[in-house]
Amino acid sequence: ISKYRPFPPVKLTDRTWPDATIDHAPIWCSVDLRDGNQALPQPMSIEEKLEFFDLLCRIGFKQIEIGFPSAADTEFNFCRRLIEENRIPEDVTIQILVQTREHLIRRSFEAIAGAKRAIVHIYNSTSPLQRRVTFSDASREDIRDIAVAGAQLVKELVPTIPQTEVVLQYSPESFSDTELDFALECCNAVIGVWEPTPQKRMIINLPDTVQWATPNIHADQIEWMCRHLDRRDSIDVSLHTHNDRGTGTAATELGLMAGADRVEGTLFGNGERTGNLDIVNVALNMNSHGIDSGLDFSDLPAIREVYERVTRMTVGERQPYGGELVFTAFSGSHQDAIKKGLDRRAKELEANAALEWGVPYLTIDPQDIGRSYEAIIRINSQSGKGGIAYILDREHGLDLPKTMHPQVGKTIYDLADQQGRELTPDEIRDAFYELFANVE
Ligand code: KIV
Ligand code: ZN
Repeated sequence: ISKYRPFPPVKLTDRTWPDATIDHAPIWCSVDLRDGNQALPQPMSIEEKLEFFDLLCRIGFKQIEIGFPSAADTEFNFCRRLIEENRIPEDVTIQILVQTREHLIRRSFEAIAGAKRAIVHIYNSTSPLQRRVTFSDASREDIRDIAVAGAQLVKELVPTIPQTEVVLQYSPESFSDTELDFALECCNAVIGVWEPTPQKRMIINLPDTVQWATPNIHADQIEWMCRHLDRRDSIDVSLHTHNDRGTGTAATELGLMAGADRVEGTLFGNGERTGNLDIVNVALNMNSHGIDSGLDFSDLPAIREVYERVTRMTVGERQPYGGELVFTAFSGSHQDAIKKGLDRRAKELEANAALEWGVPYLTIDPQDIGRSYEAIIRINSQSGKGGIAYILDREHGLDLPKTMHPQVGKTIYDLADQQGRELTPDEIRDAFYELFANVE
């Protein structure tokens, strides 16, 4: 392991974020149709992208990166269809990605012409590794000049599409692996070209393109940038985390505490390699603390159905909020506590409809996201008597007296143990009747 880099120094600022909490929703930007789509073994067709775009609008995204129109005809045509068929809701802004290269930026302007508003997202990679390897030992100045030239060209082209309000977004790609002073130099140079004001804001997106560091270091980097960027009051500082270390959510949450205003990510974390940030995860984490995320995940199974169909990806069984098993308890003690929590809540709700959620082992009420309690208690050899009684009661109307729970419980989990698998509610009922078959 000595060939790998040591952890970078941990204290970049005097940190305001450890005391912070997230107390309001950020601006959300979905990059499903770009970062998500580019990572699919079989990218979405135009029809599939249209369906996904409509879904994102229904969820409540107000900024949606729709693709890289200068990179391929399908991407260009998709952008044109959205505009020409008036499919972009009044309060939604499309965003397009483009490298800071002249012919690509010009083509991007052809793609967005006629849209009411568009975010033109330019990027170039800035880290020492990328400068050395990808850009063949380019100097810092070369890299900064690429960013400046891109911003200048966008500025020059704005008057050519007068019907479209253009917002500039700049990403120093591989930001989290870039020397901070250099990332700042590139961003401030672009800000100097664009001259944003509080009324004509721009976006500085700080990608955690590949996660090299722990989330606390990422948050320090974000805080440092927030403190040093020129015209901070005219800039939306945006997070774009991936998940290489499995810490996309943590990095985003700490990044928000460190001062960022905006979050880019995808549904269920689709995206390059280990994926982009899972926006469902961060938004529902906020909801679980009573903060309105502004995104509507009240029918998550329906969202997941569209997602799985058009991306041909699957949501893992343990994926927070969306996974098949995340509201399921197998172990007896958990089942018992959940049953007690649900029963108590049902009683208390009669007296106080605004009762705070408090069921052990369930961070949120599954019903809030269109999940049901159906699967909460499933029976295998790890289950307890309380769970078995719950299934007999709920599924078959057999409300057993407490004194019967131990004997019935043992019979049924012994059966599950012999079978080495989960038992269905019908098998549980049959085993129950068999146990008492010879009782007069
Ligand atoms: O991950 C990344 O750095 C990107 C940029 C193009 C924003 O997707
Ligand atoms: Zn990305």
